[in-house]
Amino acid sequence: MTTKLPPGPTTPRFVQAIFALTQPSRGMHRMRERYGDSFMVNVPVFGHALVISDPAEIKQLFQTSTDIAENVEPNLGRILGPGSMFALKGEAHRAQRKLLVPPFHGRKLAAFEQIIEDETVREMRSWPEGRPFPVMPSTMRITLNAILRAVFGAEGAEFDELRDLLPEMVTVGSRIVLLPIPRGRMPRWTPWGRFRAMRRQYDAVINRLIDKAGDLDERNDVLAMMLQSRYDDGSAMTRGEIADQLLALLAAGHETTATTLAWVVERLRRHPKVLRPRARTSW
Ligand code: HEM
Repeated sequence: MTTKLPPGPTTPRFVQAIFALTQPSRGMHRMRERYGDSFMVNVPVFGHALVISDPAEIKQLFQTSTDIAENVEPNLGRILGPGSMFALKGEAHRAQRKLLVPPFHGRKLAAFEQIIEDETVREMRSWPEGRPFPVMPSTMRITLNAILRAVFGAEGAEFDELRDLLPEMVTVGSRIVLLPIPRGRMPRWTPWGRFRAMRRQYDAVINRLIDKAGDLDERNDVLAMMLQSRYDDGSAMTRGEIADQLLALLAAGHETTATTLAWVVERLRRHPKVLRPRARTSW
């Protein structure tokens, strides 16, 4: 069976890339107006790619078996590591999901509530009153600290080191994620060299966290649960897999949740009628 792909711009790949990088949103809308709900683009790294926007087609894609619609190539595994959720497909993805779902069950999540409340209340105490201020740096700190405690189970020196390291590591990683990855050693002043050095430091901290994990039954964090989990054949997750998965959870949960929280504040501020019944005067 042959499938006819929809049309799209025929301009060279690098021109489409410049367009996609400089006008990401407007460019997509313009192409939709011109070619309809679905069209082909030709961009670096991904090559020829099909863009769909009809809700029915999107629903169909989400409901398609992952044996047919696989993970995109290349994917975030280039930066987060081959053992991260974002790199895996097929049986390997299913096996990791089985291991990683239990820490996110409702009962387990309740154990994280106190951590999240503590971090939020502590940060909100620094909010000025009576004048506008940017809230996103604050929500970024809340979600980073909450993830380091609830997911990494970090405290003390490791908590401080990861809190300094990870935001910069994710920023540098997101800059190089769509660029070709050079082979061999790269100098420290290049983003790849810097990222590799930060990854070495990250792996060393995770090793320390695992070495001093202590009594796992006493702990509720995701790292402790990963250390206790076993695949169907009885084997444990390797240190590399654990480090990659923790980095994936941080990258997936930090900025996404911080942005959502910042929008909540923005919306509540614009709608005092909704805010007033929820407001408490003191913490
Ligand atoms: C408001 C906050 C969040 C939003 C909007 C969000 C959004 C998303 C989206 C759209 C995906 C699908 C990505 C894709 O398949 O290409 C995804 C996947 C994922 N998210 Fe989130 N996320 C949020 C918070 C979190 C948090 C807090 C965590 C964990 C601490 C997390 C962990 C993950 C993981 C592990 C995946 C990959 C799942 C898999 O491949 O099986 N996310 N998220």
